[in-house]
Amino acid sequence: MIKGVILAGGRGTRLWPVTKVVGKHFLPVGDKTIIHYPILTLKKAGIKDILIVCGQEHTDQYVKLLGSGAELGVNLYYTIQVDPLGIAHGLGLARSFAEGHPVALILGDNIFGDDLSGAVKKFSKKEKGSMVILKQVPDPKRFGVASFRKDGTIKNVVEKPQKPATNWAVTGFYLYDNRVFDIIKNLKPSARGEYEITDVNNWYINEGTMDHFKAKKFWVDAGTFDSLHLANILIRKQI
Ligand code: DAU
Repeated sequence: MIKGVILAGGRGTRLWPVTKVVGKHFLPVGDKTIIHYPILTLKKAGIKDILIVCGQEHTDQYVKLLGSGAELGVNLYYTIQVDPLGIAHGLGLARSFAEGHPVALILGDNIFGDDLSGAVKKFSKKEKGSMVILKQVPDPKRFGVASFRKDGTIKNVVEKPQKPATNWAVTGFYLYDNRVFDIIKNLKPSARGEYEITDVNNWYINEGTMDHFKAKKFWVDAGTFDSLHLANILIRKQI
């Protein structure tokens, strides 16, 4: 059984002043809030036990909005990331929740047009390793960017490169075997002071156990004003 983890902490500074008071994940997209989308993405992929890693200042609001998850048809659990020390750090807080199982990690501001159940099924058949979802983007400098070997496998991922090698962004949906928690324990913070999920991904790439899946529909990381606006347009079209 794969356990789901949603990272919904962070400071949301790219959306200031709006997110000085309201947490980023409570902003509206279509007829829901941002946080509803990663929950429904996991549910559609068959993952129903979900831990939401919240920032301390908004925990009560998550519980008020989402409760046990029963209304959405999932089982929700909550934990607190006191300081936003990075995506890998946030995932590390899910160790006891995962209880030895593999995990699907999704970033709280990521909205996918694709049904990712096919990717999850493919990952479930692997004995060990990891899988990332890739999407071609016009602005790769904002993301983790993948480059490829001749055989099409991922050669490496670079976080927010000045000169991106490709325009294939690593989206915020990741699948890991349970060794990920030991890998995170051994990480060192990056130059920007964060425990980077890109370092975790490169660990699996170096081991030769990283697979990928290319998203076909839209993918938006709703963390800036432009992308939040775009997310609303795309979801409205879908509705
Ligand atoms: O959206 C995909 C991108 O997400 C990837 O391509 C990058 O490789 C990855 O590093 C990440 O980049 P961002 O700079 O966009 O991440 P951001 O800091 O905006 O955080 C994404 C989500 O994770 C956001 O909803 C808040 C949450 N978060 C973030 C951090 C740093 C936490 O819950 N805790 C944290 O410590």
